[in-house]
Amino acid sequence: MAKRAKKRATKKTAARRTRQAPKMLKDLFLETLKDIYFAENKIIKTLPKMAKAAHSKELAAAFNKHLRETQGQVKRLDQVFKMLDKPARGKPCEAIKGITDEGAEIMKAFKNAPALDAGLLAAAQSVEHYEISRYGTLRTWAEELGMQEAARLLQETLDEEEATDHALTELATSVINLEAEEGYRAAA
Ligand SMILES: [Fe+2]
Ligand SMILES: [Fe+2]
Repeated sequence: MAKRAKKRATKKTAARRTRQAPKMLKDLFLETLKDIYFAENKIIKTLPKMAKAAHSKELAAAFNKHLRETQGQVKRLDQVFKMLDKPARGKPCEAIKGITDEGAEIMKAFKNAPALDAGLLAAAQSVEHYEISRYGTLRTWAEELGMQEAARLLQETLDEEEATDHALTELATSVINLEAEEGYRAAA
């Protein structure tokens, strides 16, 4: 095939490919669902480690409570995948990997240190903020796609993530007080 004809053919194929699979909001919704599915499963593995590491009993209890909620959140996502007639499958999410890696670094660097809980709290809040952003977007897209039941399920999870974020903010004071006590004990 002559060079120019070949180029034309390649162009045509590319155009056909784009025409064949126009990426719609529904595709983006599915991709983002896979992203948060991966994130939630990663969080299920991480929360028990954070609860174990926490000095404050209240902080450990908050992590354990949210672990149970997160297991329910995965079940809600399973339902949304079902509504789309798609298998529930995660897609590696670099953002949550980065956030949880940072948390792991803090756990290592501040092991047994008075400031550990403050670090755990900060790491947990970064996770919640990421989730709040994702679920807010997914809920809005579900509404735009006319998927009212999916939007309701996503909103339920969003409410839990926001409540967790608030609970963690409230714990900040007791965590800092505990740090001060431990600091005094360490200095004595
Ligand atoms: Fe979650
Ligand atoms: Fe969460």
